[in-house]
Amino acid sequence: MADYRVGFASADTEFDAADCRVEGDLPGWLDGALLRNGPGKFESGGEPFAHWFDGLALLRKFAVRDGGVSLTTRFLRTEEYREVVESDRLGAGQFGTGAGGGLLDRVKRAVLPETTDNANVNVLRVDGTFLALTEVPRQVAFDPATLETAGEWHFDDDVDAHMACAHPVTDPESGATWNLSVRFGRTADYAVTRLPAGESSREVVGTLDLEDPVYVHSFALTPDHVVIAECPLVVDVWGLLRPGGPDTFLDALDWRPERPARFHVLSRSSGDVVAAATAPPFFAFHHANAFRDGDRLLVDLVAFDDASVVDDLSLPDLRSGSVRTLDGDLRRYAVPLDGGRASRETLAAGGLSLPRFDERRRGRPYRYVYATRSGGEDGAPNHLVRVDTGSRETALWEAAGTFCGEPVFVPEPGGGAGDGAVLSVVLDADREQSFLLVLDAESFEERARAWAPGVLPFDFHGQFYADL
Ligand SMILES: [Fe+2]
Repeated sequence: MADYRVGFASADTEFDAADCRVEGDLPGWLDGALLRNGPGKFESGGEPFAHWFDGLALLRKFAVRDGGVSLTTRFLRTEEYREVVESDRLGAGQFGTGAGGGLLDRVKRAVLPETTDNANVNVLRVDGTFLALTEVPRQVAFDPATLETAGEWHFDDDVDAHMACAHPVTDPESGATWNLSVRFGRTADYAVTRLPAGESSREVVGTLDLEDPVYVHSFALTPDHVVIAECPLVVDVWGLLRPGGPDTFLDALDWRPERPARFHVLSRSSGDVVAAATAPPFFAFHHANAFRDGDRLLVDLVAFDDASVVDDLSLPDLRSGSVRTLDGDLRRYAVPLDGGRASRETLAAGGLSLPRFDERRRGRPYRYVYATRSGGEDGAPNHLVRVDTGSRETALWEAAGTFCGEPVFVPEPGGGAGDGAVLSVVLDADREQSFLLVLDAESFEERARAWAPGVLPFDFHGQFYADL
């Protein structure tokens, strides 16, 4: 019997507006496109990559229109793609797969991390241009209709960075997009940037300096503050420069549990760091929402007790038949605005990953977090969960032999607060076929599924665009 591992095999086909058979009852109001990004090819010259995060970017689009659903997929045609596919080489070297090379190569790449253009993590619309994003500052533009690659794209500013956060957030009030750019030098600088709606030039609002660089994957935004969680997963930047030092970014990550985690709070208006609070060490990739509650900020994120999840997402581990540590808790940290210690409570325990929420509530009190949840023996995400952050009640969706991707909430136009749909790309491992799952957001019950003509490899992140 097939298992979740078919979702970690390379895609051998690109689909061009392929018809997806709809089963069930699509909401009549649902109209637009779910654009998603994630790795889709994992070998070069027959040699597998070392880490899931290194797979070649495969864009996917489920377009919902007039009760029908179509699927388009396209590999991003990047320098990395050409190296891997056309030259059978490993390309620039990425997160966990080294490119080898001598000292000169090492120094050339060294201002860290290797600046691949394999933008496989997320998508973002900037002033009408659709971009594929990754964790280094190389954005690749694509056509949202065909998913054809348009080419590398640059912001119209001089913000210079070694790493970029692939989880920019858009302020629902102003439409401005906020993000982090990281520079490594004597210290590590985490610049908070703001991109006004309709513009392509960012301004640096403020900077957080840390003596030791740490890996930051996402952050939180409220109407007044930016919150950066510093988990003690330290990047050995100088080691990457040293001959004989770590060969990849992954190898240069050092979990330091003797250090606390820290929440740094920056003021959106002044750019200053206005508060910092410590917590026992934890690791997080993904924030959910954050909002103010009196003299503290409540910061919700999916936390792991340590950073072993980063290693455990290596391809050999994932392909061994067990996803060992995709096992986060949804936690709420209370960060006092006058500093001190952050307290925490668990909103939902165990197996959680890829949290999302209704973006209209960003920075404000909110009710639901949607996430994937692992429940089976193999540890692969075989449920979707909705956590009520107030009552702590959970609602689950599952179907035998299926594995779920990041759930995306889509509000119903003109609907009430909780009205809408939750979309997820799900793999039916037995049928070796993926489908777009449409859940009713209110009941968390299945409304419809639209069958892709084949397997889509597991992806990372995506956004729904009602105007596509
Ligand atoms: Fe992410």
